[in-house]
Parts: sequence; C-alpha cells; structure tokens
Amino acid sequence: MRKHNSSHISKFYTKTHKERLRIVQAFSQLDESDVQFLKTPSSIDFHTANRMIENVIGIMPLPLGIATNFLINNKNYLIPMAIEEPSVIAAASNAAKIARQSGGFVATSSNPIITGQIVLTNIKDILSAQENIETEKKQLLHLANQQDPIIVELGGGAKDIRTETVHTQRGTMLCVNLLVNVQDAMGANIINTMAEKIAPTLEKITGGTALLKIISNLPISKITTAQAIFKKDIIGKKTVEDILDAYAFAQSDIFRCTTHNKGIMNGIDAIAIATGNDFRAIEAGAHAFAALEGNYKPLTHYYKNEQGNLVGTIKLPITVGTVGGITQSHVIAKTAIKILQVNGASELSQVMASVGLAQNFAALYAMVTTGIQKGHMKLHKRKLILRQAQDEK
Ligand code: MEV
Repeated sequence: MRKHNSSHISKFYTKTHKERLRIVQAFSQLDESDVQFLKTPSSIDFHTANRMIENVIGIMPLPLGIATNFLINNKNYLIPMAIEEPSVIAAASNAAKIARQSGGFVATSSNPIITGQIVLTNIKDILSAQENIETEKKQLLHLANQQDPIIVELGGGAKDIRTETVHTQRGTMLCVNLLVNVQDAMGANIINTMAEKIAPTLEKITGGTALLKIISNLPISKITTAQAIFKKDIIGKKTVEDILDAYAFAQSDIFRCTTHNKGIMNGIDAIAIATGNDFRAIEAGAHAFAALEGNYKPLTHYYKNEQGNLVGTIKLPITVGTVGGITQSHVIAKTAIKILQVNGASELSQVMASVGLAQNFAALYAMVTTGIQKGHMKLHKRKLILRQAQDEK
C-alpha cells in the first residue's frame, strides 16, 4: 500500500467512496476495522447509544467528510469533519490549498489549565475566609489531586487556588477558582469531581455555603492561536483590500460579527463533533472570549504585510480532549482522532483553530468575489438530482 505523506490530494471529491477510504487509510495508517466502521452507516447500536444518554429512540447520523490540503506547523493533516452543511469542507480545503503556498498554518497553544468555580455564599467575614483558604491551600490541592491520581502522575492535576469576591444583586459571594491542568482531557469530569470534593472543606474553613461547584467553560488560560498568509498573487490585490474591508465591517457591526464568528465555528464544531468532543462548551467559550473586552468582536484578525499579502490570525480558547468522554469509546470518534494523527489535545486544538481560520478566510473570499451561494447552489442541485433518483426508485 502506498503511503500518502502529503494532504494535498488532487480532486479528492471526484474519487469513489472506496478510493477515498483507501487514501485516508494509507495516509493515516488505519486498520481494516476502522475502514469497516467508516463504511457502516450506523456504527453505534441502540444499546451503546442507550448507555450514552437517556430515553434513546434512535441514532442521528451525520455525513463525515475529509478536508484536504492542511499543512499545520509543517505537518500534513487530513481533517475529519461531521457536518450537515454543504460547502464547508470544500471551502476549508480550498483555503488550506492557498495557505500551503506560503507554508501553511502556524499554530500554538498554551497550558491546558481549566478553572473550576466553587461559589460560596453566606460568608460573614470574606477577608478572613480568603486568608483561611490561603493557609489551607496545600491541603485543599492535595485533597483535589487525590481524586485523580492518574492525571497527577501524567504531570497534570490541581495546581493553584485563587479567590475573588463577586458583588451580585443578592450580596457578595466568594468565588474559589481551582486551576487544574487537565492534560489531554476535556476536563469537565475531572474538575467537577475535584470541586465537589473540596467544597465541604471550604465551607468548614470559611463558614460559608458552597452554592456551585462546576467547571467554567471560559478557559482564558487555555488559548489556541493560528496564523496563515494568503498571497496576493493567488487571491488578487483587490481581494486583499476587500477582505480587509469585510473584516473592518465585522469589527464595527455586531450583526455581521456574529455571522463572521459563526463561519469560524462551522469548521471548529465539525471537528469537535467528528472527534466526539463537546462542541457546546467550545461554542460557549469562543463567544464569551469574543466579548471579553466588553464588545463582541471577531475571533479572527486580518492585516496586509509588507509584501502586500493578506495575513490572517485567530485566537480563542478551545477545550477539547483526546482522552475521556466518548473520544476513545465511540468507534467513529476514535477513528477520526486516528485520521488526524494528533498527539494529544493541544495539537487537536491547533488543528481546530487552523480550520476555523481557513473557514473564515474562505467565507470572506467567496463573499467578496463570486458570492457565497454559488458553491451552495451547486451542491443543492446535486441534492435535488439525488432526491429525484431516490423518488424514481
Ligand atoms: C454560513 O454557514 C457561514 C457564513 O455565513 C460565514 C460568513 O458569513 O462569514 C458564510
């Protein structure tokens, strides 16, 4: 079997199902069983689904496609995306093809530190409460870490506790922030378990009542960035200017900015769904981050460099896991992570940020040139022909 080292695969969309599977299998060294799962229309049965959620009556399958051409930090990726919307995967692949002409995407991510909030009410003396927590910090961290010895062994676990007073319409509350390095996990289970465990001790040493013990889905210490250059010689000088104008408009108009960010999330969510990650947590964090400075802003930024090329960047928090949850138990999620060949959650978040940027560039590019409906309509036509063929059967 020939191994494809480059994700730049010409005319992937013209290949048959079997050919596409063979290409992905060779690229990502999938086992025959992975290929079989991909071929099976519903790869989870009722009993598996019934163990995942409540009141199950069926399975809701979504198409799983592959975005090609991605080069991120000099590594080639084929990117599995689960989405119902046409054009998204083609758009990402086209943007990645342009970006790879200037070296692809450069992505970074910071430490996977996620916060758990233990909110204490009814505290009579907040200052003393804060002092007591500071004195007992080591013990509290030890207690939290006893809940997950594995993550501690891997270098993660509860690292710090910081308190802050929050003035609410129902009085002053004390928020105890438990900072946890979650390594390659999404973190919700780890953090919620730790927070619930240390809450009674916090009540004892502060005299307060632990009202909430829960993860915050705004992980401002876990930031992922990506950057790419889109050459003027490929996209045209006028397009560079038009995209800068479209970006400026999104910066100044919340109605446009919402749609601008929605397009970014098209790509990020599709990977989250394909890999069995919690896309609602990612969405919530992304939009809150976009509004962190008081006004809702674009998650991407654009400028023209000295050569006149368009530089696009993206910065957002991405809570994502490659272990835990269903990432390793759902056969398709597991296969999607194998296809990506990522080494952990940070790398996965870098892929997601790059795809988010690609998606946004592609949408802006389409809108300022041919318009967004052209590609959509081509697929829509294909859908109509398919429906007609099914009706005629
Ligand atoms: C559609 O799903 C996404 C777009 O509306 C994004 C955008 O307008 O930037 C095309």
